[in-house]
Amino acid sequence: MKKIVLFAVVLSGVLFAQSAQDLINDNGCLACHAVASRKSAPAFAGIGMRNKRFEGANAKEVIMQSIKNGSKGKYPRFSNSAMPAFGNLSPQDLNTIADYILAQSSKAKGHGGQGNCGNGMRKKGMNR
Ligand code: HEC
Repeated sequence: MKKIVLFAVVLSGVLFAQSAQDLINDNGCLACHAVASRKSAPAFAGIGMRNKRFEGANAKEVIMQSIKNGSKGKYPRFSNSAMPAFGNLSPQDLNTIADYILAQSSKAKGHGGQGNCGNGMRKKGMNR
């Protein structure tokens, strides 16, 4: 009996936990963001890289907070627009999306995947 209950719990977790791609589609993130290129917002790949570089171990937490509470002024190139707050997302959803964004950092173009991409940003006052 215990095994059956456990199985049901695991199965419902699999069925109801949305994938990062679903969450990003369903919440309209792609209206402004793309994974590897700039639209009206920074690419997820670049966001992943920037936060890994500047926030280190806090990268995931910072990304989760920015999605939940919104963000403005971090990316000078996008200073005319802002990231809206998505307070509707559960901590689990935020966690899933943040993992996904961090995993995209290797897809950023022109930086060999990782490394010095943050230097230019820092010079432009990115790391206030
Ligand atoms: C209306 C356009 C728009 C939508 C919709 C949008 N974003 Fe953004 N997002 C932005 C802009 C603009 C920035 C840059 C903000 C800044 O400079 O601080 C940004 C920044 C971010 C950042 C970087 C925050 C940081 O601290 O480095 C993350 C992560 C992010 N968005 C995730 C998402 C996710 C996930 C969704 C969907 C749930 C989403 N965005 C929907 C415009 C948008």
